[in-house]
Amino acid sequence: MVSFLPICLIFFAVHRISAIEVTEESERIVEDAVMRALESLYNPDNLPQNNASSAGERIVMSQQANADSKSAQFTGEVLEEATRTLVQEFGMDILPVANEVINKWKVEEEQENDGNATEVPETRKKRQAVFRIKRQSGGSKKCTTHPSNCNDRFHTTTRSITGHCNNRENPELGKSVSPLRRVLGGAFYADGLGQMRTRSVTGAELPSARLISNVLHDDRNNQVFSANINHLHMIIGQFIAHDVVFIPSSVVFNTKLILLSLIPLLLARNGGQLDCSACNSPQRVSGNCAPIRVSLNDRYFKIPCMRLTRALNGQENFGVRSQIGQNSHFLDLSTVYGSSECEMDSVRSFRDGKLKTFTGLGYTLPPQNFNDTNCQSKAPWVCFTCGDFRNSLHPALIPIHTIFIKEHNRLADLVRSRRRRMSDEEIFQLVRKILIGMWQHIVYNEYLPKYLPQRSLRNFDLQPLRNRVHLGYKPKQDPSISAEFAAAAFRFGHSQARFDFPRLNAAGRPAGNYDLGHDIFYADQNYLSGIGGWEPVMNGMVRLAGMKSDRYFSFGIRNQMFEIRGRNGSGVDLVSVNIQRGRDLGLHPYVMYRQFVGLSPVSKFNDLNTTFSKENINALRSVYSDPMDIDLYTGIMLEENMAGAQLGPTGVFLIAEQFKALKTGDRFFYESSVANTDNFNLDEMNEIRQNVTLAKLICTNMDSINRINTDIFDFRSNQVACSTLPEININTFLR
Ligand code: HEM
Ligand SMILES: *[C@@H]1O[C@H](CO)[C@@H](O)[C@H](O)[C@H]1NC(C)=O
Ligand SMILES: *[C@@H]1O[C@H](CO)[C@@H](O)[C@H](O)[C@H]1NC(C)=O
Ligand SMILES: *[C@@H]1O[C@H](CO)[C@@H](O)[C@H](O)[C@H]1NC(C)=O
Ligand SMILES: *[C@@H]1O[C@H](CO)[C@@H](O)[C@H](O)[C@H]1NC(C)=O
Ligand SMILES: *[C@@H]1O[C@H](CO)[C@@H](O)[C@H](O)[C@H]1NC(C)=O
Ligand SMILES: *[C@@H]1O[C@H](CO)[C@@H](O)[C@H](O)[C@H]1NC(C)=O
Repeated sequence: MVSFLPICLIFFAVHRISAIEVTEESERIVEDAVMRALESLYNPDNLPQNNASSAGERIVMSQQANADSKSAQFTGEVLEEATRTLVQEFGMDILPVANEVINKWKVEEEQENDGNATEVPETRKKRQAVFRIKRQSGGSKKCTTHPSNCNDRFHTTTRSITGHCNNRENPELGKSVSPLRRVLGGAFYADGLGQMRTRSVTGAELPSARLISNVLHDDRNNQVFSANINHLHMIIGQFIAHDVVFIPSSVVFNTKLILLSLIPLLLARNGGQLDCSACNSPQRVSGNCAPIRVSLNDRYFKIPCMRLTRALNGQENFGVRSQIGQNSHFLDLSTVYGSSECEMDSVRSFRDGKLKTFTGLGYTLPPQNFNDTNCQSKAPWVCFTCGDFRNSLHPALIPIHTIFIKEHNRLADLVRSRRRRMSDEEIFQLVRKILIGMWQHIVYNEYLPKYLPQRSLRNFDLQPLRNRVHLGYKPKQDPSISAEFAAAAFRFGHSQARFDFPRLNAAGRPAGNYDLGHDIFYADQNYLSGIGGWEPVMNGMVRLAGMKSDRYFSFGIRNQMFEIRGRNGSGVDLVSVNIQRGRDLGLHPYVMYRQFVGLSPVSKFNDLNTTFSKENINALRSVYSDPMDIDLYTGIMLEENMAGAQLGPTGVFLIAEQFKALKTGDRFFYESSVANTDNFNLDEMNEIRQNVTLAKLICTNMDSINRINTDIFDFRSNQVACSTLPEININTFLR
């Protein structure tokens, strides 16, 4: 029956491993496993027993998979199932051989695509079916073109929107929809393959992520503010996160549904959301459900389980489950420009190099998105279209998106006024390049030093140079985002978020506020033209304190993610989600990373005393039965901060390590100079390094700000007139 599948046979990238001889016998075994995997995924008994569409209401989510990710999930799930079969019958040792078989098939497939086929018999072709489903998996439009040659003119001069070809030796490294990297080798799964750990090393059940959140991370409405760092630092961190990390969640996937694709109802369900609200959803709905247990005496949630869908499995080999990043991993303003051609096209105006905006209220906003079914507020308060899907996750992201869009359009106008003959495309790409350079400079020069200690900045080579080119580009450096950074370390920023977002008027006086918990995926706060739109929110973030980065999280973060207004408990706890996400991704326990970064090994709780307060050790002891069980996220958030830093040594290491990878692994990094690459020249680099500040970027693109903090992330800092700050000179870039 499988032969009726309307599938495209597309082989995927398999990382080559040491050559192991492929025999006819091993080929047959692998073919057999793949066939059985397909049939099992086809099995009507495996159909989801309930459906999101009938679950009463739409499930609001931030991690929505796009069409390319859905294809990756299909391949991943076939391989996962086939791996299980192979391991059951032959043990783990079969896996390297099985991967060699796939390598062989891949070569054969490539030859065939080149029109140079050694004839592949039809039956064999079917048996080789490890495939991606294109049409039915959600995308009708092809959103990414796969370049056949990274040395063509375009990829030499231009950073591609997907990140493809950034690395010439390994063109897929860091591109959108490609695997996350692992800092600590392997993944930590109960069965060694993909099952989330649920047991303590003592054999008892692991504490539920919500229990950990309640015991260790509840601020009990006692907000502790940072002594110096403003709320802007939080939101810029989130903007960085949304540039480089997007782990898509699993969707409904069943080959049966694809077979019956003529039936529109089923088709609609395929590729749709999983409803993982029920405690038994892992059995009843999908193995990709991972709901979080809530105890009976929970102070906010009156439900037995909190929904969570596992990150989709994009494994490309026989072996361990593996996750992907859907945005390009590079620091390249995916938030502004998107990570696929479709996303990029949706934000461009295609006139004079500019981006689309909405100006119907008398001030600038990103273009409106009337088709966004995830948005909780309704027309006329619709959400927006930006490079990143999560732009309307909460209202304070929109000011940042808008400032970057406005700056892009301002620079585009300047370029056009000086170079009348440049095309839309030429202006767009030049301004995109400059704005990404500015952004990278802001991140390394202003954002990172505010919470990483000087010593780490030096050791990891994170400081911008003066009047010199950075010669540290390393083609061997994998620039990809690490699972540890994405699912744990860089989520530290959730601790900086206030539950309230106070507004300040142009004179710096209070002008009301809104509550984070009531505004997740609601856009109406950005439509308040009577009070000046988003500018008072921005003023508030610049001038007022953020929360201290510590183990405590504000009420909205811990109770109201995605909450429907007026319905207490309809959302989730982001801290629980972070912890559960770590288990989902198979992160190793905290103590393993701790040792990896050079701290003393731990066998009993007290051994933590080199980097934890007594109080925090006791707190840990009250919820975990063994230090070996401590989740990475919780461990990072409970470590004592390093001197001059907002995080402890493990968090600092994982974040510094990632930003080093993003610097030395990016061929287009703004300070780099690489052969046959259109980098900035020294004058251009200096222009950015000397004349670009976040403060000026904000000043230039806001009407109500005339004076701004000299230290942009310090709410106590002196204010200076915007006009005294240096300004980027566009002429420098017009060669
Ligand atoms: C009010 C502020 C914020 C809200 C409401 C928020 C909300 C969320 C949500 C709902 C997720 C998805 C969690 C999951 O399903 O695994 C997430 C992920 C994440 N957040 Fe935040 N966040 C905020 C601020 C920040 C900040 C300040 C940072 C960093 C400094 C940050 C870093 C991240 C990262 C790295 C992820 C993982 C992204 C992914 O898996 O695709 N967030 N956040
Ligand atoms: C799933 O959806 C179909 C069609 O709406 C409905 O008939 C069926 O009862 C639903 N199943 C469950 C378990 O809700
Ligand atoms: C096609 O196959 C022939 C013989 O195997 C080989 O010499 C030639 O290089 C191949 N051409 C391509 C485009 O792969
Ligand atoms: C929104 O949906 C309508 C109808 O489904 C479609 O015609 C239109 O092109 C869509 N707009 C965008 C921006 O996707
Ligand atoms: C919802 O929770 C808030 C506390 O966040 C409480 O003040 C309010 O009374 C609750 N509403 C209902 C209907 O339970
Ligand atoms: C940690 O505890 C041990 C006793 O187990 C003690 O000898 C040591 O001094 C403590 N270290 C710190 C930094 O408190
Ligand atoms: C920076 O701006 C100043 C004044 O606007 C200008 O004179 C200078 O050329 C610019 N570039 C550099 C690299 O300083």
